[in-house]
Amino acid sequence: MAREPDSGRPHGDGPHGDRPGGGEPDGGGGAGRHGAGRAPRLSESGQAVRPVYGPGDLDGWDPAERLGAPGAYPFTRGVYPTMYTGRPWTMRQYAGFGTAAESNARYRQLIAHGTTGLSVAFDLPTQMGHDSDADVAGGEVGKVGVAVDSVEDMRVLFDGIPLGEVSTSMTINAPAALLLLMYQLVGEEQGVPADRLTGTVQNDVLKEYIARGTYIFPPKPSLRLVADTFAYCGAELPKWNMISISGYHMAEAGASPVQEIAFTLANGIEYVRTAVAAGMDVDRFAPRLSFFFVSRTTLLEEVAKFRAARRIWARVMKETFGARDPKSQMLRFHTQTAGVQLTAQQPEVNLVRVAVQGLAAVLGGTQSLHTNSFDEAIALPTDKAARLALRTQQVLAHETDVTATVDPFAGSYAVESLTDAVEEAALDLMGRVEDRGGAVAAIEQGFQKAEIERNAYRIAQETDSGERVVVGVNRFRLDEEEPYEPLRVDPAIEARQRERLARLREERDGRAVETALAALRKAAAGTDNVLYPLKDALRARATVGEVCNALREVWGTHVPADVF
Ligand code: 3HC
Repeated sequence: MAREPDSGRPHGDGPHGDRPGGGEPDGGGGAGRHGAGRAPRLSESGQAVRPVYGPGDLDGWDPAERLGAPGAYPFTRGVYPTMYTGRPWTMRQYAGFGTAAESNARYRQLIAHGTTGLSVAFDLPTQMGHDSDADVAGGEVGKVGVAVDSVEDMRVLFDGIPLGEVSTSMTINAPAALLLLMYQLVGEEQGVPADRLTGTVQNDVLKEYIARGTYIFPPKPSLRLVADTFAYCGAELPKWNMISISGYHMAEAGASPVQEIAFTLANGIEYVRTAVAAGMDVDRFAPRLSFFFVSRTTLLEEVAKFRAARRIWARVMKETFGARDPKSQMLRFHTQTAGVQLTAQQPEVNLVRVAVQGLAAVLGGTQSLHTNSFDEAIALPTDKAARLALRTQQVLAHETDVTATVDPFAGSYAVESLTDAVEEAALDLMGRVEDRGGAVAAIEQGFQKAEIERNAYRIAQETDSGERVVVGVNRFRLDEEEPYEPLRVDPAIEARQRERLARLREERDGRAVETALAALRKAAAGTDNVLYPLKDALRARATVGEVCNALREVWGTHVPADVF
């Protein structure tokens, strides 16, 4: 069922049709516009087929007319006029494990090594809205990220780190509002005004239904909570990026570059529709939307992917949602190098992969970057591996010359035609999501998940057959792998965290917590913004589990309809 154009549907199915923004040649256009029309095709698995470029391919191809300028609509060449010549990307290493104290030590270490932005990894109980002493949390406390049960843990997590001077990303989705509010409460304790707090919460629950799984509530209340968070940030935290619409996890689940940006931007359209339907003006919230993508070793295609994503989003925001503020039309994004391309075999080879992937992100114009540690396919990164990952970025930023030129690939036939090809295929796929009623309806039909799983299967077949080379795994193998000593997480962490929780429950005012939770349930059952009573509950030291259980009572929990 196709939606009406006025519902925020991207017009047209591809650059040759009436693409978003009417398809005027304003710096971007269809692959068919090249001289000999020998633009690359995309293979079934979404990988670009490397065309042979020959004489005549560039006939009638006027870079000045086709490209547009960096920092100008449709931002194909980057979101800022000066890009890295004005300010290098943020070196933002994703980190967190154990209790808040262990992670605080790792953040201080990263700051000492020169990281320029923080990025918090939370453990699964926190991400799923459970306390560390909940039965379901057993064995997971502090394992894949830091355990945060209450505002007290948040205080320890940022002990000695001035929140008015750093920007912090928090990878948290279903309970994003809770962790954001705890961060603000700690900022208040440090005396930092709310309008000085900068950072991002991922807060992208739609991709959790598609690929990652850390959802709690059904789509409808989840989108209500996202909209409440948008409104709260607009009113209280003006410099906060209230969502990081993510393609990374879909890519890690097997999505091709085209699927990654198409499904991510389709989710973005759903969030914008939700906020507009909640009465918000698009130019009030859209400048603080942000995105998150992967960067793979296929450097040229990844650069093209980033450029295509910026151009599609700019047109969708201007033409479909009528955004007038250029900041509403800019697709600002964070990139993480591809975790699935790391190998446990010959792990040092991952240093080379991460360097190429990091270079792809930089050449593609990322605003913020995480480079994976070479040992992450084996276990949590050791201190040395984490330092090497950051040093990789510092070499890219300070020893190469890629920061001296804005969008160095501009005018390259290979990259411009790849950009057009990826854009065309992504628009077609976005059209197929729209035809199913938009991202949420398509999710409920299992569309995105099935498409990604089909591509993941194709990649696995290509790897098994050796058609897709993985150095050290299906070619250039060692007869015997060299031993590697990974980091081990202290199993006593869970016991220590449970003791902290027991102490908190004893010392706090239980009656104040109950009153605050009752007010939260009432707001959740009504239409008021839940973040205000939520903040009161957290200030009274209600725990993540208690707050999420109160919301579960009102909103229920999501049960996936597995269709694949
Ligand atoms: N000219 C002018 N101004 C410039 C500039 C230039 N060349 N470069 C930067 N600036 C300005 C910007 O305008 C901005 O100012 P503002 O806030 O007043 O607008 C300031 O300098 C900071 O620049 P950015 O906003 O570009 O960079 P940030 O690093 O602050 O923000 C972001 C980047 C992508 C917008 C933000 O959303 C972000 O940091 N996202 C990070 C998300 C993240 O880390 N996610 C981790 C996920 S890990 C995960 O999911 C789990 C695992 O499984 C992978």
